Amino acid sequence: MPIIRRPDWALPESAATPESVWLDRRALLAGMGLGAAAAALPAGRAQAMGPTPPDWPAPLATNPAFADAGRPRTAEEVAATYNNFYEFGSHKQIYDAAQRLETAGWTVTVDGLVEETFEIGTDDLIAAMPVEERVYRLRCVEAWAAVIPWVGFPLSALVEKARPLSAAKYLRFETFQNPDVARGQRQFWYPWPYVEGVTIEEAANDLSFMVVGAYGRVLRNQFGAPIRLALPWKYGFKSIKSITRITFTDERPVSFWEELQSAEYGFWANVNPDVDHPRWSQATERMLGTDERLPTMLFNGYGEQVAHLYDGLEAREGDRVWR
Ligand code: MTE
Repeated sequence: MPIIRRPDWALPESAATPESVWLDRRALLAGMGLGAAAAALPAGRAQAMGPTPPDWPAPLATNPAFADAGRPRTAEEVAATYNNFYEFGSHKQIYDAAQRLETAGWTVTVDGLVEETFEIGTDDLIAAMPVEERVYRLRCVEAWAAVIPWVGFPLSALVEKARPLSAAKYLRFETFQNPDVARGQRQFWYPWPYVEGVTIEEAANDLSFMVVGAYGRVLRNQFGAPIRLALPWKYGFKSIKSITRITFTDERPVSFWEELQSAEYGFWANVNPDVDHPRWSQATERMLGTDERLPTMLFNGYGEQVAHLYDGLEAREGDRVWR
C-alpha cells in the first residue's frame, strides 16, 4: 500500500511559483554569471527546453476539423518547459531530467482481451497508422491550460489493429518503469508505474488521439516521448505519457492518481467548470504563458463530440463523472 500523500501538483496554481518568478531568477543568475551552469542558461527559455528533435519526417496534413482550437497556440518554449511528468520530478521543470529517457527501440505491448497479443516498435506502429496534425486544447486539473499542435493518429485505428474480443470493456495504459533513469520513481509513496484507463467507447471516439509528435517535430521527451495519449475533454492527468503497454480488459482500471487519492481524482475526470476540485475552483483556467484567466468550458469545449458518451452516467455515478 502506498502511503497516501497529497500529490504536489494538486495545489491551487496560486500556491505554486509563478513561471515569471522562476524565469526571472534564471535570467538573473545567468546575468550575474553565478557558476558555469547558471551562466550558460539563456535569459529566456528558448534554448532551455532540451535538444530540438528532428522535424516530423513525412509531410504533415492538419486535420481541418482540428485546425483551430479557438484560442492562440501556446508557444513551444512555454509548453515544453512547464510539464507534469512525475517520473522525472514532482515539479514543472522536468525538461532536463526527462532527456535521460532513451526512446530509441521503444516498443508497445498490446495484450489482454485481444485476438492475439503483440509487441510493436513505435516506428513500425507509426508507419502503419494514419498520422496527422491536430491542434487540441489541454486542461490540467490544476487549472492551467494550453493549446498544442499534436502529431499523432486516432486511438481508434490502434483499437482496430488490436482486434479486441467482445468481452473487452476498457483499455488500461501503462507507462515505463525504470527508477535508474526516472528518479521520480524512487519516490516510493507513489504507486508506480503510472496507469490510466478509458472505456472502449471513449477509445473509439474520434477525439482520442495517440500522440507521437508536437509542433511539427518528433515528440520531445518532456511531452511523453515516444508515444502518449491526448484526451482533450478530460483533465490532463488522463493523457498518460511514454506508454509501454495497452491492455484490453473487462475490469475498470484504477489509475495512478485514483489509487493515491480517490476522493479527488477518479476514473472519468471530464472537465467541468461547475464541479470544483475538493480544494479549489474549476470555474476558470490560466492559459500557459499568460496571466489571463479564461472561463473553463464543459468537456473543455468538446461536448459536441463526447457528451453522448456520458448520458445517464451522472445519475449513476454522481459528480465522480467530473473528477
Ligand atoms: N503521464 C505520466 N506518465 N506521468 C505524469 O506525471 N502527468 C499528467 C499527464 N500525463 C503525467 C502523465 C498530467 S497531471 C498532465 S496535466 C499532463 O500529462 C501534462 O502534459 P504536458 O506536460 O505535455 O502538458
